[in-house]
Amino acid sequence: MSQTDLSNLWMPFTANKQFKQAPRMLKSAKGMYYTSSDDRQILDGCAGLWCVNAGHGREEIVEAIRDSVGTLDFAPTFQMGHPLAFEAASKVAAVMPEGLDRIFFTNSGSESVDTALKIALAYHRAKGEAQRTRLIGRERGYHGVGFGGISVGGISPNRKTFSANLIPGVDHLPHTYQPTKSSFVKGEPETGADLADELERICALHDPSTIAAVIVEPVAGSTGVLIPPKGYLKRLREITEKHGILLIFDEVITAFGRLGAPTAAEFFGVTPDLITLAKAINNAAIPMGGVAVSRKIHDAVVQAGPEKAIEFFHGYTYSAHPAAAAAAIATQDLYQRDGIFNRVAKLAPHFEQAVHGLRDAPYVKDIRNLGFIGGVELESRPGAPGARAYDVFVKCFEKGLLVRYTGDILAFSPPLIADEAQISEIFDTVGKVLREVA
Ligand SMILES: Cc1ncc(COP(=O)(O)O)c(C=O)c1O
Repeated sequence: MSQTDLSNLWMPFTANKQFKQAPRMLKSAKGMYYTSSDDRQILDGCAGLWCVNAGHGREEIVEAIRDSVGTLDFAPTFQMGHPLAFEAASKVAAVMPEGLDRIFFTNSGSESVDTALKIALAYHRAKGEAQRTRLIGRERGYHGVGFGGISVGGISPNRKTFSANLIPGVDHLPHTYQPTKSSFVKGEPETGADLADELERICALHDPSTIAAVIVEPVAGSTGVLIPPKGYLKRLREITEKHGILLIFDEVITAFGRLGAPTAAEFFGVTPDLITLAKAINNAAIPMGGVAVSRKIHDAVVQAGPEKAIEFFHGYTYSAHPAAAAAAIATQDLYQRDGIFNRVAKLAPHFEQAVHGLRDAPYVKDIRNLGFIGGVELESRPGAPGARAYDVFVKCFEKGLLVRYTGDILAFSPPLIADEAQISEIFDTVGKVLREVA
């Protein structure tokens, strides 16, 4: 490529020094592939960042964005409306679990998380329980990068750098990963549902009447692909319900088909009170996020507001931006028309077999999977955690495959249009690379 100055851009979540010495540049994308700046086809093993579920460059979505920008470049949704915003909300509501059909739009997963936490606090206040302010997250949870999200999240780099400024009144459930009991288990581990009972301990410690909400990812992705034990989420639902605590599922990566159902809530048959959304909501073609909220919560907050007063003091300039809303409508139509969610359900057994085919590859110490999500945990190089997975990531890119990694865990989440051959190719390439790295 021509000489691009790389110095001005401070890249997010990136080893900036290494990148700028040897940049990996993508210049276009179509279907299952990116094209790199040196004109190589790169198979997308992670749907961009778990977000391009319908595959890249979908004409219907591109067209919808083009039309909307040409017709209505921007319109506020504060005290004003535009039809695309309402239509997008209806389309999203249509695939949420029954009753979670009030949609608040944001621009990202991080904003969705902070919005959901604020809705929980507003709900309890509206119900006359303003003392419910405590928020419960989970170790190894990733809920984006806002101060709310990193506080309920459970990742040590956030706690190290930002520890003094996390929001107060937060506690954490233990994570659900039990390597001695569930290594190489296919799908949901049989043991570990009892880890949800830790919530009873936390309730006893703080008094449940002080707790506003519990937030968990049904399947944790960014922190290394952690699959919930069978019955765990149901148990969390029972305990939260018993104590009047709201349950929030952070479905930023699981919503819109990743497990073969529209949401993880529907896949697991457990309905929370709020679901955070982003990424695949509009195939990531324009930034957008949202929170699906139960009618009970929405109505309580809205009815508590005095006439002519704003009921919920929250929103973003770009909430339901016309172009993002247009993309969401087109995306949701496309998911339905192409039966994308059912495709995942059908191909999940092949995906499972393919990822577990790496069991005997060098350095592999665990494999986890569900739907179109796979995690391969590698032994760390002594004294250099993350270095081996970084090398695998770079070598995969050189061989024409884009993967993600966290620490020494490789994560796979291809677009949901991947066929059997492409799924096999992802794991065959990783197998080859594992035999080449040190
Ligand atoms: C579960 C979960 N929540 C929140 C986020 C944050 O989303 P964003 O990067 O759009 O702010 C992510 C991002 O990967 C996520 O996986």
